[in-house]
Amino acid sequence: MIQIQGLNKIYNVGLQNEFVALKNINFEVLPNSMVVLKGISGSGKSTLLSIIGGMNKPTSGEIIVEEKHIAKLPDLHLSNFRANSIGFVFQSFHLIDDLSVFDNISVPLIPLALSSKQIEQKVARAMKIANISHKLHEITKKLSGGEKQRVAIARALVNDPNIILLDEPTANLDSTNSQKLIAILQELKTLGKTILVSTHDSLFDTLDCVDKIVHIHDGCIDE
Ligand SMILES: Nc1ncnc2c1ncn2[C@@H]1O[C@H](COP(=O)(O)OP(=O)(O)OP(=O)(O)O)[C@@H](O)[C@H]1O
Ligand SMILES: [Mg+2]
Repeated sequence: MIQIQGLNKIYNVGLQNEFVALKNINFEVLPNSMVVLKGISGSGKSTLLSIIGGMNKPTSGEIIVEEKHIAKLPDLHLSNFRANSIGFVFQSFHLIDDLSVFDNISVPLIPLALSSKQIEQKVARAMKIANISHKLHEITKKLSGGEKQRVAIARALVNDPNIILLDEPTANLDSTNSQKLIAILQELKTLGKTILVSTHDSLFDTLDCVDKIVHIHDGCIDE
């Protein structure tokens, strides 16, 4: 589902300086598996996730997602790839606080020119999986942290993507909400999704639904 070979990412810092954020990354994520990417702050987790999600370009190397060489895709194809294949849950949620829950979740559907009935059906389905249906008409800023996280998950699911990328999904959650998140991830796996989670939370160390834990240090993955 995701294959990465010899991937490097160098950021330009200031005028003359370069920072190597990812060094010769090789790894793969099989279809319908859950892979956990573990590493301390600054190790390169968000950089790697954003490259897999087509939001950031590698400096060199191969990245094949659903048989597409995504680093080589022209911008229009890349936005189609993101819209159809990827659900991304950002650590800081990136929700629009003054909009309702329904409006936040339906944002990814705007470019698709669907009927309001189709939009309602897709939003209802995503909200059910993310266990947030009861907050449909609430203004987002009134929600708790765990509820906002579940709205962010519903928004990532609304297009029914095959691949869900979650960047430190439990970083802002208490243990009850972290357990609810795990239950949602288990449900997504049952639905056939491929899941990649970045974290430094030890909660993910012992979960039955996790197929592989990959450790990242200073931009390198331990073989
Ligand atoms: N746009 C950028 N320009 C320059 N350096 C960057 C940029 N984005 C990230 N970096 C650097 O690359 C390294 C990896 O960053 P990244 O955000 O991928 O780490 P992370 O593992 O997600 O950390 P955290 O757990 O704190 O979120 C860091 O040292 C960071 O400062
Ligand atoms: Mg990060």
